[in-house]
Amino acid sequence: MDKKVVLCITGASGSIYGYRLLEVLHQMDFEIDLVVSTAGAMVLKEELDLSVKDLQDRFQKIRLVSEKAIGDRIASGSRLVKYAGVLVAPCSMSTLGCVANGINQNLIHRVCETALKERVPMVLIIRETPYSVVHIENMLKVSKAGGVILPASPAFYHKPQTVQEMVDFVVGKALDSLRIEHNLYRRWKS
Ligand SMILES: Cc1cc2nc3c(=O)[nH]c(=O)nc-3n(C[C@H](O)[C@H](O)[C@H](O)COP(=O)(O)O)c2cc1C
Repeated sequence: MDKKVVLCITGASGSIYGYRLLEVLHQMDFEIDLVVSTAGAMVLKEELDLSVKDLQDRFQKIRLVSEKAIGDRIASGSRLVKYAGVLVAPCSMSTLGCVANGINQNLIHRVCETALKERVPMVLIIRETPYSVVHIENMLKVSKAGGVILPASPAFYHKPQTVQEMVDFVVGKALDSLRIEHNLYRRWKS
């Protein structure tokens, strides 16, 4: 397995989850193919005051791919099987709905569809509150199809003192799902 991941940032609140994953995976020397949806770019600006270009400037090893590039190599199963996984962080309910129902309106939806059909590990860090029945049914569909639904809900048993620690808990759980080693949170000891 190559040390490569696809990271998608969509327009849910919680751009910091995508940003932190970029930071951590970049430090780990992963090749990262990054796709940011139009709404994802809007929320990134609102929450972190960063543009997509700022991401590219900070993380020079990333390959930035447009959400419109539907024919990009990561849309293809024969290429995606070489990746350790696909992460959508944060994942909006709109993207969740498209993935759950096989609708491809952009490259992010197509990459997720390809991940499900090729059994490439896929993690959706979803964020919304409260959930409607539609959201819950879509989560069930994705979970049954083999995707990991990972709500952006940090735990408190490790007594986080900072927002960063709470973010790192969720990011660490996402890396656990891809079986990527890390020390982002303290594991439960009994
Ligand atoms: C500031 C802001 C915060 C948002 N937060 C959420 C959210 O937490 N969850 C969600 O599902 N949608 C949220 N939305 C709405 C999505 O951005 C919207 O549904 C968009 O169409 C999603 O498109 P995408 O999935 O292609 O990124 C938010 C929008 C804005 C502007």
